[in-house]
Amino acid sequence: MTDPTPAPEESAGHSGVPLVVLEGVNKHFGDLHVLQDINLTVHEGEVLVVIGPSGSGKSTLCRTINRLETYESGRISIGGEDLPEEGKALARLRADVGMVFQSFNLFAHKTILENVTLGPVKVRGVKADQAKKRAMELLERVGVAHQSAKYPAQLSGGQQQRVAIARSLAMEPRVMLFDEPTSALDPEMINEVLDVMVQLAKSGMTMIVVTHEMGFARKAADRVVFMADGAIVESNTPEEFFTNPQSARAKDFLGKILTH
Ligand SMILES: Nc1ncnc2c1ncn2[C@@H]1O[C@H](COP(=O)(O)OP(=O)(O)O)[C@@H](O)[C@H]1O
Ligand SMILES: [Mg+2]
Repeated sequence: MTDPTPAPEESAGHSGVPLVVLEGVNKHFGDLHVLQDINLTVHEGEVLVVIGPSGSGKSTLCRTINRLETYESGRISIGGEDLPEEGKALARLRADVGMVFQSFNLFAHKTILENVTLGPVKVRGVKADQAKKRAMELLERVGVAHQSAKYPAQLSGGQQQRVAIARSLAMEPRVMLFDEPTSALDPEMINEVLDVMVQLAKSGMTMIVVTHEMGFARKAADRVVFMADGAIVESNTPEEFFTNPQSARAKDFLGKILTH
C-alpha cells in the first residue's frame, strides 16, 4: 500500500493541517472495483485537482467523500471526524462539504436569491434577513447580484453555475468539491466560472476539483492527482505532472488531451 500524498512541506499554499483524509478506501459496483485502496490527504487551504480518463472513478471519489455513495472498507474523515453513516451528523457533514456538479441543479421554481438563502435558513437555522444579506454578498462575489430576482432558466449556463457556487458557499462549507463544473458549459462561459474558482482558491478555501482544465490546474492547484481504473496513479505539483508525467497511463492521457 503506497501513499502518493506528499508530505505537507512538499506542497505550498496550505496550512499542513489534514482536513479530508481517506485511508485504504475500497468500493465496488458489482464486479467493478471502482475505488481501489485510495489513500489521500487534503490539507486545509489546499487546492487539489483530480484528473483522469472517463470512467476512472473521479465522480465516485467525490460522491464517496460526500457520502452520496457508501464504501466497503477503509476510512474517510473530515476534520478528524469519521464520516457518519446517517442522521443528524450526516446532515451536518453534508453542510460542511459543498459540492458543485456538472449540471447546476438549481431549484427551477425559486429565484436566484431564494436558491442561495434556502439552505442556510432550513439547514443552518440562519435568520431570513441575515441569510439574504449574506446571499447578496456571495452573488456579488460571483458576479450575478443583479440577477438575484430572476429564475434559473433566465440565466446563462455560466451564470447558473456561478449561482450554484454561491449557493454552496452560503452553507459555509469547510471544503468544496467540484465535479467537472465547466464541462457542460459553452466554451465562452468556461472562463467566467474558472475565474470565480481561482478567486475562491486564492481566498484560502480547501478545494477538490475534478477538471481537465489545465489552465485552472496550473493557476490554482497545489497538487494534481491522476486517477486511472479506480486507483491514484500519480500525485504531483501541476508543473511536474504536466511537463514530466511518470506513468505510461498519464503520458497517454496527457497526449490525448493536449493534442485534440
Ligand atoms: N451507480 C453506479 N452503478 C454501477 N456502476 C457505476 C455507477 N456509477 C458509476 N459506475 C461506474 O463506475 C466507473 C467509474 O465511474 P465514475 O466515478 O463516474 O468515473 P469518472 O467520473 O472518472 O468518469 C465507471 O465504469 C462507471 O460506469
Ligand atoms: Mg465523472
